[in-house]
Amino acid sequence: HGTMKVNEQGHLEIGGCDTVDLAREFGTPLYVMDEVLMREICRQYKSAFVEKYGNAEVIYASKAFLTKAICCLMQEEGLGLDVVSGGEIYTALQANFPPERMYFHGNNKSASELTMALEAGVGRIVVDNFYEMEMLDRLAGEMGKKAEILLRITPGVEAHTHEYIKTGQIDSKFGFTLPNGQALEAVKAALKKENLVLHGLHCHIGSQIFEMDSYAYTARVMMDFIKEIQKTTGWTAGELNLGGGFGIYYADGDEPATITDYADAVFAALREKAEEHDLPVPKVIVEPGRSIAGPAGSTLYTVGSIKEIPGVRKYVAVDGGMTDNIRPALYQARYEAIIANKADQPPAEVVSITGKCCESGDMLAWDVPLQPAEPGDILAMFCTGAYGYTMSSNYNRLGRPAAVLVANGQADLILQRETYEDLVRNDVIPARFRK
Ligand code: LLP
Repeated sequence: HGTMKVNEQGHLEIGGCDTVDLAREFGTPLYVMDEVLMREICRQYKSAFVEKYGNAEVIYASKAFLTKAICCLMQEEGLGLDVVSGGEIYTALQANFPPERMYFHGNNKSASELTMALEAGVGRIVVDNFYEMEMLDRLAGEMGKKAEILLRITPGVEAHTHEYIKTGQIDSKFGFTLPNGQALEAVKAALKKENLVLHGLHCHIGSQIFEMDSYAYTARVMMDFIKEIQKTTGWTAGELNLGGGFGIYYADGDEPATITDYADAVFAALREKAEEHDLPVPKVIVEPGRSIAGPAGSTLYTVGSIKEIPGVRKYVAVDGGMTDNIRPALYQARYEAIIANKADQPPAEVVSITGKCCESGDMLAWDVPLQPAEPGDILAMFCTGAYGYTMSSNYNRLGRPAAVLVANGQADLILQRETYEDLVRNDVIPARFRK
């Protein structure tokens, strides 16, 4: 997919770059981001939501994959940015990303993070709970500023996805609960706060969602709520942020919708409810992360040891693992892979791809078809662009991989490989050990 093809040497090429050459030049594991595909998806979002329906904004959920270069790319594509921590805000500011296009999320923002956001002039702070509401009002007052906010609402919608990435259900740590009246209390409270300017509402039902009906249903629930708020307070929400979560193809069996289906489902629901309730259609904001970064990313690994247990399983070990992609271990996520230097050959056997960490759970793929693997081969795993690097760790003191952005035969380093030096940079030996 994207700009991938098999070249004359039978090697996998991404963005016009031979992946075997990339592995040689930059080392492995290596995250390879297909810039053309990433931009293409950004444009699909803009065309499906903004160009078609007008009053809409697309913001990239940076938790999926964030480096300074990615901020620059998002800015060029005209997307906003969803940030959830001081670290993400800092990264974006370092890349000169316009703060007014950032939305600041999180269920436990600290006073220093909120101060940082207010100082920087972050566009919207998405207030999650009463504790934060009080704190933000006080901090903004002390700074002589007004905080521009949305309220995060937990709509009580069960999305069909993995337990760990569901967020819309009542039993969730996020947001003000809608069905029990807490959300309405929050709106009333926010409207009374002197230093808060309430612009609208936010909700996010979860991630890796394939059913566009879930979005339509949520949009209807939120519109009913907007009407209820209007009746009780006279205030009409001007903005409705519907979160992210659009599901992507990872492996056989995944059937994602199209981005156009997504936008159409949302707007059909909003228009229907707007008419029913005699409300304006609010400005719609969507926050895709996975669907922008995921398909654009592949990870290159070098194959090392291979262990065959006759009649049981064949383990093909690579030089990374749960440290650069914890998703299979954490969510039983599935991936597809090929041997990049044998891309012109059909798969010859079913193997399990394992990492190099000291853990049996350190698996990247169970029972997947693969070309005959030998030590030294380059293995390419697909759709690893989202939540791979951002959830990476230094377990077993492995350094984090490098990342390159590839396009039109050019590969640019956007993330340096961590060195041994990097790994000990923050270690401190107390003086009493230095005798
Ligand atoms: N907006 C909010 C408020 C979110 O919490 C998230 C994701 C997004 C947008 C972006 O969702 P996306 O379009 O990427 O699905 N680590 C998990 C996914 C966690 C998602 C957390 N929130 C995984 O690897 O599957």
